[in-house]
Amino acid sequence: MSFVPFELERWQSVWEHRVRFNLSESGVHPLSLHELLEITDTDLPALETLRLGYGQSNGSDELRAAIAATYPGATADNVLVTTGGSEANFITCWSLLRAGDLATLQVPNYLQTWGVARSMGVDVNTFSLRPDDDWNPDLDEIQTAIRPDTRLVVVTNPNNPTGRVLTNEARGAIIKRVREVGAWLLVDEVYQGAELDDTRTETCFGRYDRVIVTNGLSKAYALPGLRIGWIVGPADLIRAAWERHDYTVICPSAISDFLAVRSLAVRERILERTRTILRHNYGILEEWLQAWGELFTWRRPDAGAICLAEYALAMDSVDLVQHLRAAHDVLVVPGAHVGLTNSLRIGFGDETTHFQGALKALRAGLEGLISD
Ligand SMILES: Cc1ncc(COP(=O)(O)O)c(C=O)c1O
Repeated sequence: MSFVPFELERWQSVWEHRVRFNLSESGVHPLSLHELLEITDTDLPALETLRLGYGQSNGSDELRAAIAATYPGATADNVLVTTGGSEANFITCWSLLRAGDLATLQVPNYLQTWGVARSMGVDVNTFSLRPDDDWNPDLDEIQTAIRPDTRLVVVTNPNNPTGRVLTNEARGAIIKRVREVGAWLLVDEVYQGAELDDTRTETCFGRYDRVIVTNGLSKAYALPGLRIGWIVGPADLIRAAWERHDYTVICPSAISDFLAVRSLAVRERILERTRTILRHNYGILEEWLQAWGELFTWRRPDAGAICLAEYALAMDSVDLVQHLRAAHDVLVVPGAHVGLTNSLRIGFGDETTHFQGALKALRAGLEGLISD
């Protein structure tokens, strides 16, 4: 088996802090520490006197209880706190998959689990969200792709990159099929709470005894720098994942654990801030896309700070974004990094004035290409 690089994260890791305009981010303009202390009503001395020791390895009891309280039927024993959603997804794969297993992945997707599974020597097959059907999956394809020998099914809901939330029918079909074949279902719900309207995406936790949900503070909560994620699942699986976590990062940062408890206590206020940014900036992006006439085809995302736009240009998406970065200092995710051709994933969660500047740079870059 050979290592599969994570192209999307490599692209961002190398460039996101070296460009003037970053439209590759899928979360919203992060809260500053000052804003977080204010919104959580935390006095600075409470932070200043915090001892910087190791935290409780699986997350403090307080934090695990606060997370569990957001999942009907969960207790702190169903929760492992991780370093971001990335560690949550990674150790879930590590706990459940062995070389030669089969994992079935919804595509397009954030391709972390795809790369981890492939790097472990796991076979991966897929079922698709279909652009010609409003990004709904085909129910027959779900039935055939999730095979009797599928060990793990991975879904991101709300989805990255389409922003689509599964309909009840599609979600029900996936759960029915994993139950039929006895597979595990990993649902990455990191964009839950970042819906553009007021409908909250329902969690899949508790829908079947082999459902594992991953989530964290990085996207809907606008706190990616805290690096707090979590796994919610059956207690046995959580114990097995915690054993792996002893090898990865030992424990979450004590400062982050402390701030995460306070953030969850004001969860609805933080999520409202996120949705306000998303609604406002999406309006700006939509106008910008419409102004191009026939060049772009897209669907309004249900959730998340990303919009997937298919372009009518005969140019490879990686070549296109490389040109935009080098010539116009603007970073966009190419469709190729999320399993698609001729598409761009445009992040719209940034601070509004800066975001408008980024769209101007993107326009200049695209106009240059079209007129060439
Ligand atoms: C679907 C999905 N899961 C997980 C992650 C990683 O999250 P974190 O920054 O919390 O590690 C991302 C980041 O973009 C994501 O899009």
